[in-house]
Amino acid sequence: IQVKMVKICCLGAGYVGGPTMAVIALKCPDIEVVVVDISSNRINAWNSETLPIYEPGLDDVVKQCRGRNLFFSTDIEKHIAEADIIFVSVNTPTKTRGLGAGKAADLTYWESAARMIADVAKSDKVVVEKSTVPVKTAEAIEKILTHNSKGINFQILSNPEFLAEGTAIQDLFNPDRVLIGGRETPEGKAAVQKLKEVYAHWVPEDRILTTNLWSAELSKLAANAFLAQRISSVNAMSALCEATGANVSEVSYAVGKDSRIGPKFLNASVGFGGSCFQKDILNLVYICECNGLPEVANYWKQVIKINDYQKSRFVNRVVSSMFNTVANKKIAVLGFAFKKDTGDTRETPAIDVCKGLLGDKAKISIYDPQVTEDQIQRDLAMNKFDWDHPLHLQPMSPTAVKQVTVTWDAYEATKDAHGVCILTEWDEFKNLDYAKIYEGMQKPAFVFDGRNIVDSEKLREIGFIVYSIGKPLDAWLKDMPAVA
Ligand code: UDX
Ligand code: UDX
Ligand code: ADP
Repeated sequence: IQVKMVKICCLGAGYVGGPTMAVIALKCPDIEVVVVDISSNRINAWNSETLPIYEPGLDDVVKQCRGRNLFFSTDIEKHIAEADIIFVSVNTPTKTRGLGAGKAADLTYWESAARMIADVAKSDKVVVEKSTVPVKTAEAIEKILTHNSKGINFQILSNPEFLAEGTAIQDLFNPDRVLIGGRETPEGKAAVQKLKEVYAHWVPEDRILTTNLWSAELSKLAANAFLAQRISSVNAMSALCEATGANVSEVSYAVGKDSRIGPKFLNASVGFGGSCFQKDILNLVYICECNGLPEVANYWKQVIKINDYQKSRFVNRVVSSMFNTVANKKIAVLGFAFKKDTGDTRETPAIDVCKGLLGDKAKISIYDPQVTEDQIQRDLAMNKFDWDHPLHLQPMSPTAVKQVTVTWDAYEATKDAHGVCILTEWDEFKNLDYAKIYEGMQKPAFVFDGRNIVDSEKLREIGFIVYSIGKPLDAWLKDMPAVA
């Protein structure tokens, strides 16, 4: 039987909306997918040869479907009106002012999206919450939609996205699970079924979980909080390892061998970054506080505090090992993105580390294969909201900004430097010619490996003084204790 082609519209062409819709279009040739955004720059980029985000495999997927059943447009109202299923994946930053500032999610974009949907819809719609939002957002959105509905039936679903940047396409092709939350009414169940059919084009049925709305919303916050908590746990251990002579890699390997714990997400680092972990935990904290659960709020807050501690501990290690001063010393920063294989710098630990070094008057020279100079300067100039972070510094003064240079080459960045800080685990940093780098540097030459990717023994043979997170310290570093 010939059924009417399902039309999907996605509001928000960002890191989540773009890749997710591209994969739906690829896997569902019978569905027309239109991604819309208020930013015409973004849409133009999605329609060009250079996509607005760097994500391995994405170009390929987009090329296969763009113009066939995948479209990018700024004509928001038209495509909303035509769609059967509307995904909302607009940004939900942490509020910077007003009630809940520093913790609560700013739902301005979400609310205006909902009002617009109510305004232009002429037929029944399934509205899918895709961006991570506080628990019970769906209920609020449902109210906006139904109070403005003009007799149209809106069904709201929560379908949180679990993709990680850098592996987005793989994650979307082969998800651990797809989670769909909806109302337990007959209409709600029908909407869940409708969305389930979309994913069933390529996801095995037993991986598509259906729950009520609140469970779906909370599961997303909980998953990110658990993941971040593992990193803070291993990072806390890394400090203890340095103090005792244990090796954090050995410890986390041994711990991860316990099948109840598992081996993934136990890599000690300079700290976690990315747009989700901190934001979602702050959100969780806020929700706990609003629900009279301060003990639970404090438990999760500690995950962020350890992350901040790890970043400041790293900066202190750099400064203390260089005779307690980095003033006017050139320090090379290799890697600025929050993880490898992405150009995204949101909440990257590199921002706090660089600000920390600049605070001590260092000159820094940054190289990252995917992040532009513009982006780096913007990130370093931005004043981040301060909730109760110990590390958060003021925006960079114009003099401090002059202390920063950005290069397109690791060798140039390290030339004449006193120290090298590796802040992103880009594969290319493993295979640099460190002997050549050593030659070009001031002596003693230091490497501070914030991602534990270099072969520290080899580097020591070359002549470097090497600091690796959570590893036994060089005699030099032992003599220059860092106070965090
Ligand atoms: C995360 C979740 O993994 C994903 O499921 C969710 O949808 C969005 O948030 P993302 O932020 O893209 O994804 O990347 P992720 O791989 O989780 O890394 C987050 C941060 O943790 C990075 O800065 C990474 O370097 C750091 N990390 C990760 C560690 O420091 N150690 C680890 O063992 C793993
Ligand atoms: C634990 C460790 O599992 C074991 O590896 C170590 O050698 C000794 O300590 P044990 O205390 O005997 O073993 O039992 P375990 O099964 O770990 O349970 C500990 C407590 O946690 C129990 O009270 C159990 O009821 C509780 N628990 C366990 C939960 O409340 N929830 C869970 O999901 C698992
Ligand atoms: P995420 O990582 O959650 O995908 P991004 O910031 O990358 O977040 O993307 C969110 C996108 O949503 C941005 O491109 C922004 O322009 C877009 N956006 C925000 N509000 C609206 C709206 N009302 N209608 C359409 N797009 C919107």
